[in-house]
Amino acid sequence: MGDKGSAPIFACKGLSLDLGGREVLTDISCELRTGEVLGIIGPNGAGKTSLLEILSGRYVPKSGSVHFQGRRINELSLFQRARIGIGRTYQTPVVPEELTIGETFKAARQAYKPYLTRFDAEYGASLVNFIYDEDKRTSQLKTFERRKLLLACLLMRRPKILLMDEPAAGLINSEIDEIDRILRVLSKEMNIAVLIVEHRIELLDSIADRVMVMDAGEVIAQGELSEVVNSPAVRAAYFEHVAG
Ligand SMILES: Nc1ncnc2c1ncn2[C@@H]1O[C@H](COP(=O)(O)OP(=O)(O)O)[C@@H](O)[C@H]1O
Ligand SMILES: [Mg+2]
Repeated sequence: MGDKGSAPIFACKGLSLDLGGREVLTDISCELRTGEVLGIIGPNGAGKTSLLEILSGRYVPKSGSVHFQGRRINELSLFQRARIGIGRTYQTPVVPEELTIGETFKAARQAYKPYLTRFDAEYGASLVNFIYDEDKRTSQLKTFERRKLLLACLLMRRPKILLMDEPAAGLINSEIDEIDRILRVLSKEMNIAVLIVEHRIELLDSIADRVMVMDAGEVIAQGELSEVVNSPAVRAAYFEHVAG
């Protein structure tokens, strides 16, 4: 649910973005409260990943602002945003394939100060049911285990918000059920705000408090998932996409 009466922990206002000489985002605004899950859906090319790139600090918007805990953070780099508690996951889980699991956690623990302990790493692993098999090489991990490893490395830093790009992509149903349970714990028990781009409607239906629908760089609908998917604008966006 989030605490509806409280100020948003994270927000963006009027974001626009040019890429390759073309406007790929136009006037995007959203806000998230502690413990709230906001789902973002929309056809391929809608601009969902580009939005996450701005929010996490990798792309600089043409206009608009990003706010965290009441502070404007446009000037903060990706790294600085990570340090203040903004975690980001990617659609493709890229793990350091030359390292073992133990070495990967160690690198993450010592990525910046304060350095974390093994205990923190085991805590992060336990939150996502990741098996801390120290000597196993990360190259041997399947997609879901790679996602969990990267998520565990984020969680041991105790982020306040997670920006997730299609965490269920390429997963089988039992794995999606597990992601569902994990995200529920992170949001509802640990009060992490979660902004999740996801095509799997059944996952959003289960965990998202609200959804925002994007098409061609704009927000075309927002609200409860059940209302939004039936709106004429959303139906048209998906139909045009399928037809075209
Ligand atoms: N680096 C880039 N340079 C130019 N255009 C890009 C770049 N990245 C994405 N785009 C374009 O921006 C639009 C939005 O892409 P993206 O944010 O990846 O959408 P989504 O994640 O919703 O599928 C698409 O038209 C895509 O082709
Ligand atoms: Mg994308």
